[in-house]
Amino acid sequence: MKLIFLGPPGAGKGTQAEKICEYFGIAHISTGDMLRREMREGTELGNAAKAVIEAGGLVSDDIIIGMVKNRVNEPDCENGFLLDGFPRTIAQAEALEGITAEDMAVNIDVPAEVLVDRISGRRMCSGCGAGYHISKYTKDTCEKCGAPLYIRDDDKPETVLNRISVYNDKTQPLIDFYDNKGLLKNVDGNRTPEEVLADIKALVESI
Ligand code: AP5
Repeated sequence: MKLIFLGPPGAGKGTQAEKICEYFGIAHISTGDMLRREMREGTELGNAAKAVIEAGGLVSDDIIIGMVKNRVNEPDCENGFLLDGFPRTIAQAEALEGITAEDMAVNIDVPAEVLVDRISGRRMCSGCGAGYHISKYTKDTCEKCGAPLYIRDDDKPETVLNRISVYNDKTQPLIDFYDNKGLLKNVDGNRTPEEVLADIKALVESI
């Protein structure tokens, strides 16, 4: 099972991906999480990507495609995987066609005004990377691993607006790209996480 999650920043891709991967027993491949890990560890790649990410731009296609190509060959991907945040450009989508054949692209649709509120209230775990929202969770440590929570550097309001604009420009065209391939499914992401999850599960079960 090879799935793709599309959707603007804050649509709930990471929130839903965690649950879907656990439920179907497939690997969760988040290029954003991979890049944040590289930045935390201070690797060459992480240091090179930091300024671009903090400005809300996109890391170069070559770097990202190389990362994903290696990742999908790891043993935990044998049963399948979910790509969360990749592809993000037409060039990445075309490169993916040479790496694997996708079964479905799920587009989580959420209006722009909701995205800013979701992102400004997001808190991330510095240990395991779990995500929270201050409207639902008010502690400052992670309920899963106990590590402190932090605000992502690219979640500042001015950066968020740039990320949404980059999404509209570079990533939104992928909706037509996957629709033309007959792989696109749209989900209304402006509902409770449980309702969104139920819809995505039903779609994936129909594969
Ligand atoms: P990445 O980490 O992929 O960020 P993103 O796509 O902008 O998505 P987010 O993580 O912001 O949001 P999400 O949709 O996962 O929402 P979440 O579930 O957290 O990428 C970060 C950066 O890395 C990029 O800007 C780029 O620079 C670089 N990058 C990554 N991939 C790349 C690529 N392929 N090519 C080039 N560069 C790349 O939810 C958000 C909040 O809302 C949370 O607080 C959550 O609790 C809450 N929430 C979730 N669902 C709901 C709901 N249904 N109702 C109410 N609240 C909800």
